[in-house]
Amino acid sequence: MSSQIDHLLDENRRFAPDPAFAANAVAKPELYERAKADREGFWADQSRELLDWSTPFTEVLDWSNPPFAKWFADGSLNVAYNCLDRHVEAGNGDRVALYFEGEPGDSRAVTYAELTDEVKRLANVLTDLGIGEGDRVALYLPMIPEAVASMLAVARIGAVHSVVFGGFSADSLRSRIDDAGAKLVITADGGYRKGNVSPLKPAVDQALEDRGGLGPQATVEHVLVVKRGGNDIDWVEDRDIWYHDVVPQASAEHTAQAFPAETPLFILYTSGTTGKPKGILHTSGGYLTQAAFTHRNVFDLHPESDVYWCTADIGWITGHSYVVYGPLANGATQVLYEGTPEFPAPGRWWDVIEKYKVTIFYTAPTAIRGFMKQGRQIPQARDLSSLRLLGSVGEPINPEAWIWYREVIGAGKTPIVDTWWQTETGAIMVSALPGITETKPGSAQVALPGISIDVVDEKGEQVGNGNGGLLVITEPWPSMLRGIWGDPDRFVETYWSMFQDNGYYFAGDGARLDEDGDIWFLGRVDDVMNVSGHRLSTAEIESALVAHEATAEAAVVGASDETTGQAVVAFVILKESFLRENSAEGLANDLRAWVGQQIGPIARPRDVYIVGELPKTRSGKIMRRLLRDVAEGREVGDTTTLADTAVMSVISAQVR
Ligand code: WT7
Repeated sequence: MSSQIDHLLDENRRFAPDPAFAANAVAKPELYERAKADREGFWADQSRELLDWSTPFTEVLDWSNPPFAKWFADGSLNVAYNCLDRHVEAGNGDRVALYFEGEPGDSRAVTYAELTDEVKRLANVLTDLGIGEGDRVALYLPMIPEAVASMLAVARIGAVHSVVFGGFSADSLRSRIDDAGAKLVITADGGYRKGNVSPLKPAVDQALEDRGGLGPQATVEHVLVVKRGGNDIDWVEDRDIWYHDVVPQASAEHTAQAFPAETPLFILYTSGTTGKPKGILHTSGGYLTQAAFTHRNVFDLHPESDVYWCTADIGWITGHSYVVYGPLANGATQVLYEGTPEFPAPGRWWDVIEKYKVTIFYTAPTAIRGFMKQGRQIPQARDLSSLRLLGSVGEPINPEAWIWYREVIGAGKTPIVDTWWQTETGAIMVSALPGITETKPGSAQVALPGISIDVVDEKGEQVGNGNGGLLVITEPWPSMLRGIWGDPDRFVETYWSMFQDNGYYFAGDGARLDEDGDIWFLGRVDDVMNVSGHRLSTAEIESALVAHEATAEAAVVGASDETTGQAVVAFVILKESFLRENSAEGLANDLRAWVGQQIGPIARPRDVYIVGELPKTRSGKIMRRLLRDVAEGREVGDTTTLADTAVMSVISAQVR
């Protein structure tokens, strides 16, 4: 990490806001002053201005029982109404909400009036299926308009969605359905990916299979299936229902009922430091306030004229806050794209930008680095002149990628906002504001108005400008997680015990403050990896590896990778009996595939090294730091605390 810091310290390029952009910008510098003078009053103003409350709130923040926050608790609203009906009522029903672009090239524009209609019908169907307030609904869908409609229909009736990324395995889906006790699953036969139909429904069937003794999915009563891929699927009578058999026929009359601000809106699972994913819980009023505020101000949204595109899948928090809730609450017009950047050819995303004249584009550094590798000729062959703002999210963006993004995609003129946040924070916390902030390539820069961030040492003392430490959030914020589903102790332990005396939220990120007080993120400080902007836990992959019959022991580390940021590297000790009968290379390949099946392709290790031993301290703790040195091809660091100091030279030799 120190070489990375030295490198960042050398970065001194600066980009002042363009005065013409600033003159028209949504965000005004007064936001910072107002928030500083009265943080809660600032959020109350934003909430009243950006949302329609059925019962106006009088309380702003209730922090009487930390770390369990309540925001706007005596107010009530309907989240879907705020994302849909009110835009139609305001005369914007004909505005396009979604420009859907399917991977095979099919496309359709869905207006606010049409999306509202669809969501009302679907809300009626859900009610008919017995789904009511507080019930959990699991979604396992491709990036299609029905996915957006499903999230909103669940929200509309006060139920709770749990979206599971379509790239996750049947096992991962099953554990998430189980943990949330979902009553309904909404899925599709399949979706398009890299030119093929990638089936989804079979994974749902598998997830819901009776597991002899472990119990069938008693909680799931129905599976609602959207036809998208046209692939053959199995059908379970009385359980499975085609979406097209019930939704178009349902009544489009549906009055949105208001729910209290703290009504659970969704659960989204994310990896932590232990093997079991955490169900991060978000609620309604505070979440929607901050999603809408950040989407409007960070992306400088002018809803009448902008075409916005966030490339994230709705299976991640970025898709929740910046494909569904933020943009729709703000009445934005956006692109929804189903596939990958490479299909049918590497320029596909630039074709989409040209076709829809996208003005605001939000993607991840891993994608940008991938495009850099392909060369600038590909984007330069398209007309990208509609772009006026670029965003980055998911991991630190290295200055080279930042500069390339601005020069090649942004014609050397668009502001870039590098946005730091997490599944847990619900919405953007640290970012430049376009038109205001002088940007620095590689720095996420400053806390947004109304957000209190600091960098501290392990005792919770401020490190001050020019120093590195741990990033903390020092005051509650509207879109903060309200807990971990079904596990309040883990919530307190994971995020609030580290700086218990100060009452700080521990984010798990290392960060450095430069001489101006701008924040430079340095990556995770815990056993969480970031692969292509996706969070993976070392423990979760290790437990998948040891679940394989050939494995005796396994250790996983995140090693730096030019394209994906980090890559999963596994060190595995095999059972003697398996080594005798199989080649180490064959087993390593089997294990890679196995992890892909167990968790999902994103978790598949880049490298599996078969080793004879693992480096352990005298108390038996695996020293991953040393394995990371090996995986990154560095000289191995201090081994004096190892029980057997010779073990690292053996491992290094085996890896080479
Ligand atoms: C972790 C959260 C936020 C949506 C996508 C990821 C890393 C995220 C940045 C950024 C440096 C970043 C952090 C964070 N991260 N954005 N702009 N600069 N690091 O959400 O899966 O919950 O992961 O992603 O390490 O803790 P997530």
